[in-house]
Amino acid sequence: MRLILLGAPGAGKGTQAVVISQKYNIPHISTGDMFRSNIKNGTELGKKAKEYMDKGLLVPDELTVDIVKDRISQADCKDGFILDGFPRTIYQAEKLDEMLKDLAIELDYALNIYVPDDEIIKRMSGRRVCSKCGMSYHIIYNQPKADGLCDSCNSELIQRDDDKEETVIQRLSTYHKQTEPLIEYYEKKEKLLTVHGQEGVDDTTREVLSALSGAKL
Ligand code: AP5
Ligand code: MG
Repeated sequence: MRLILLGAPGAGKGTQAVVISQKYNIPHISTGDMFRSNIKNGTELGKKAKEYMDKGLLVPDELTVDIVKDRISQADCKDGFILDGFPRTIYQAEKLDEMLKDLAIELDYALNIYVPDDEIIKRMSGRRVCSKCGMSYHIIYNQPKADGLCDSCNSELIQRDDDKEETVIQRLSTYHKQTEPLIEYYEKKEKLLTVHGQEGVDDTTREVLSALSGAKL
């Protein structure tokens, strides 16, 4: 399955991507995680991306498109992938269409996880992420098994730099202006599936898996 996850910052894309990746045995590709790993490793790309990310703005398309192109051309993406956080602009969506055409493959679905803005602002202050693998947790809604440690790789959980309330508000505004138009873009292509992500994590997972399996029939 070749899948795009759409949704506002904090809608639960990363959380659901982990479950979908395990169930369908396809890689989870998050452009946000790729930028954060570049920042951690002090690369030139990381330095440039950080300037935008810390302000709640999108990293310019020319720094984003090529990393996705390289990644989806790798062997482990042959049977499918989940793109989490890409595309985020109409330009990126058009570039993705070109990449898929060049690889002679088709997108199956764009799954939109809908959560209202006020719920997102409430959620973000409680998010904690793994400093090593990027897995998301929440201090109330999605607690790790051991306090402060990642269930998957046992590394320390930290707060993301862009989860400060004023940055979250800017990220939401960026989302509404630049990314939300993609919902219509994929609706027109008849690829859009929508689920509600404001209930708990497990309820949202049930909705997501049911939307994907129903759509496959
Ligand atoms: P990115 O890392 O993609 O951030 P984002 O889209 O803002 O999304 P988040 O990762 O914040 O949220 P999520 O939807 O994954 O939610 P999560 O599962 O963690 O991008 C970061 C930055 O990189 C961007 O701002 C931009 O600058 C840049 N960038 C990335 N891609 C780019 C691109 N293509 N072009 C240009 N720039 C790009 O969940 C959030 C919290 O809620 C967690 O605490 C979780 O435990 C909790 N939670 C999840 N689901 C539920 C639920 N159902 N009920 C209760 N709590 C829940
Ligand atoms: Mg994420």
